[in-house]
Amino acid sequence: MKPVRRRFTLLFMVVGVALAGAACGRATEDQINQALGITPTATLSAEQIASATEAASATAAARLLAASSPGAATLGDVTQGRRQFTTWCSGCHGPGGAGPDILSPGSPGSSVTADSLLPLVREGIGHASPPGPYLPTEISDRQIADIAAYLNSEAAS
Ligand code: HEC
Repeated sequence: MKPVRRRFTLLFMVVGVALAGAACGRATEDQINQALGITPTATLSAEQIASATEAASATAAARLLAASSPGAATLGDVTQGRRQFTTWCSGCHGPGGAGPDILSPGSPGSSVTADSLLPLVREGIGHASPPGPYLPTEISDRQIADIAAYLNSEAAS
């Protein structure tokens, strides 16, 4: 048998096995593709391409923004700060609480910074005791910066 013919015979055998399997409902499309040495090409819908493109450009825009304003990454997140304040502080610093009002416009909340709030929350320096000191496992440094941003946004308005 010549080498060329042998190769054809082999190919027919492989395809035959795959098709026989398919006929019995056993071979999957993947198995047939594999037997034939076909690599299926992924086809993307127009929507998939559009959303992938959109996601990629949103990421690029966010990166550009972060690069152009390096300070932005260290500013607190007001929404997160409100959440933390409600959890840890509003019992005393809310209406009717034991602590002073630090949310109203012009109150001490307007002048706190992430740096001034850190020793107050973490070590109780300049603060009533209880509550503090708050452990990093309770409130992270990042969340203290978020609380400062929230107090600033409330007390400045
Ligand atoms: C158990 C009650 C209580 C809790 C909870 C509490 N505080 Fe206070 N806080 C006080 C009291 C009372 C004072 C005023 C007396 C003092 O400064 O020691 C005060 C003072 C402060 C001041 C200084 C206000 C000023 O006059 O300059 C800040 C800022 C502050 N608290 C922030 C916080 C933050 C942020 C939290 C949450 C992480 C918190 N507090 C949780 C009771 C509380």
